Amino acid sequence: MLYSEKVMDHFEHPRNVGMIEDADGIGEVGNATCGDIMKIYLKIDHDIIEDVKFKTFGCGSAIASSSMATEMIKGKPVSEALQLSNKAVAEALDGLPAHKLHCSVLAEEAVKAAVDDYYSRHNG
Ligand code: FES
Repeated sequence: MLYSEKVMDHFEHPRNVGMIEDADGIGEVGNATCGDIMKIYLKIDHDIIEDVKFKTFGCGSAIASSSMATEMIKGKPVSEALQLSNKAVAEALDGLPAHKLHCSVLAEEAVKAAVDDYYSRHNG
C-alpha cells in the first residue's frame, strides 16, 4: 500500500482542524510547485503551546502531516516546536512516499513560521 495506516487515519480524521481567533502566532506557508497551502495557529502561555489548530488546503499527505505536527507540538515548549523536523513528522506517520516528503516539509515550515510570528510579536 502506498500510504501507511497512520497517514490514512490522520487524513480521514485530522486532529486540531480549525483556527484560533486570538492566536499568539500564525504561520502560513505554501509550496509553489503543487500549490498547497498550510496555516498553523498557536495559543501560547508562558512559552508553552496550549493549543494549536491548522487549516490545510492541500493533498492528503499535507493534511496528515499538519495533523500529526499539531499533535507533536501540543503542550510542548515553543523551543521544542522549533526543533520539529519534517523527518520526525514523516517518521511519526510511519513514512511517506518519496514524492510526498515535501508535504511534511510544509508542516515543519508552517510550525516554524507560526513560532517566528509569536517571537516577533513578543520579543520585537
Ligand atoms: Fe504538495 Fe502534498 S502535494 S503538499
